[in-house]
Amino acid sequence: MAATIKDVALKVGVAPSTVSRALSNAANVKAETRHRILQAARELNYQPNALARSLRSRQSKTFGVMVPDITNPFFAELVKGIEASARQNGYNVILCNSENDRQRELAYLSLMREKQVDGLIFTTAGDLAGEVNTFREDSQTPVVLLDREVDGLEADTVISDGFQGAVEAVRYLLSQGHTELGCLRGPSDLTTSNHRYLGFVRTLTDAGRPVKPEWVVPCDFTLESGYEAGKKIAQLANRPTAVFAVNDLAAIGLIQSLEEAGIKVPDDISVVGFDDVPLSRLVRPRLTTVAQPIGEMGATAVKLLLQIIKRRRKQVKKVVLNTRLVIRESVRPRS
Ligand code: RIB
Repeated sequence: MAATIKDVALKVGVAPSTVSRALSNAANVKAETRHRILQAARELNYQPNALARSLRSRQSKTFGVMVPDITNPFFAELVKGIEASARQNGYNVILCNSENDRQRELAYLSLMREKQVDGLIFTTAGDLAGEVNTFREDSQTPVVLLDREVDGLEADTVISDGFQGAVEAVRYLLSQGHTELGCLRGPSDLTTSNHRYLGFVRTLTDAGRPVKPEWVVPCDFTLESGYEAGKKIAQLANRPTAVFAVNDLAAIGLIQSLEEAGIKVPDDISVVGFDDVPLSRLVRPRLTTVAQPIGEMGATAVKLLLQIIKRRRKQVKKVVLNTRLVIRESVRPRS
């Protein structure tokens, strides 16, 4: 049977409350007494009951993290940044992969309440403003939105500047002589894809270049959707000379599809992605892309959550981190 706090107290000859104070590093325990208590706890292999500890201190020392697709290397990198920062601050992480499914998101919100997480870092797959508000009010759990904003939800938010990233990407293509640009446009219900698309349209329009509807192909953030979009572009009689893709996976799927149709990248069509996931440096041609500060985004979300938990801040805060154009091999000057 597992040793209890009473067993440790009996062995040392002190009250259980003294053991509890010693184990939670309270100041009012003599050093010699703490030493004897810690020695006895080790000898008895005493394991504090995590739930009992959380009920006592109202802290589970655990963050909930919910992302829509853990198979996307962007989210893998994002979670890595969150977990490293949480661990450095003495917190564990419960990771929930919602598979872009609203029902799963709702089920995981219930799980977060049950586990009494001290905070939730949330990248939404769609619109959950009401449910997240209810979760936050009922459980008094702070929430930080990461990467994607949620209309109607006033919460701390960490994003990268997708609009400016798209502006830089399109300006670069224009500087390479490309004036007939296409776009793999991400899901129109997500702020990340809308910011990027707006940057694409605004920059082209400012340059007096048309945005041709037949060159704007809807996709989501997957290899498969980029591949399917590439098949549509390959079949066009009049094709763009360059394509800006909403993320790296879609760009890589696009390149694969164009190559299979006998269209060379970058010789025939130039391609720019968005994210700068590790894969973008390994594919051929190596992908020119807009780098997001993915690890920093995750760490910043943890920092905001800790500020709220330690009641260092009341007002809602939004952090917008810069992106950076990374020029590799998938763009060539317009011949
Ligand atoms: O690759 C996944 C995409 O979804 C990223 O661009 C990220 O910003 C998220 O919104």
